[in-house]
Amino acid sequence: LKFLCYSNDGVDEHMIWLIGLKNIFGRQLPNMPKEYIVRLVMDRSHKSMMVIRHNQVVGGITYRPYYSQKFGEIAFCAITADEQVKGYGTRLMNHLKQHARDVDGLTHFLTYADNNAVGYFVKQGFTKEITMDKERWQGYIKDYDGGILMECKINLKLPYTDLAT
Ligand code: ACO
Repeated sequence: LKFLCYSNDGVDEHMIWLIGLKNIFGRQLPNMPKEYIVRLVMDRSHKSMMVIRHNQVVGGITYRPYYSQKFGEIAFCAITADEQVKGYGTRLMNHLKQHARDVDGLTHFLTYADNNAVGYFVKQGFTKEITMDKERWQGYIKDYDGGILMECKINLKLPYTDLAT
């Protein structure tokens, strides 16, 4: 099992994984237009943290880091149907937090969570209370009325992945 983060960099293997992830999002997020999913997953300013098992994508999180603002916007998050509720979603988020902090230099995440995924995000440390100053994020993230805006503050020191990878 591997947790790898790539954007559309033209490397064949990464492209195959990103296409697999795009297909998982298409099935798991039926309210999202397919063209919109492809556009963001393939957009070079977005990155995707992916769970890879036997060289196949099991799920992932696509996000856009805003480096100057030090926060990331999570656009899509999903695990393939037959692998849900086995802990992959939690491990994925932990790897994302570690990468966002140590590689991207981010301190927070924002996401518009679907109503039925709020429980998952709460378990990952997200809150409906937004503590970042509005000037820091307003105008950067897209308004989206199909969900609830949630925030996660990334812990500065916590080893998110060392204990249980
Ligand atoms: N509602 C409430 N709790 C949930 C949900 C949910 N939809 N999904 C998982 N959980 C809980 C689990 O029960 C578990 O709790 P526990 O630690 O007490 O046992 C905990 O969250 C973590 O579960 P994991 O097994 O790590 O989660 P999983 O691998 O299933 O991944 C995910 C969670 C990504 C939400 C997955 O179920 C999924 O793909 N769902 C369909 C797509 C979806 O809703 N994606 C999010 C949309 S919002 C967005 O993309 C910005």
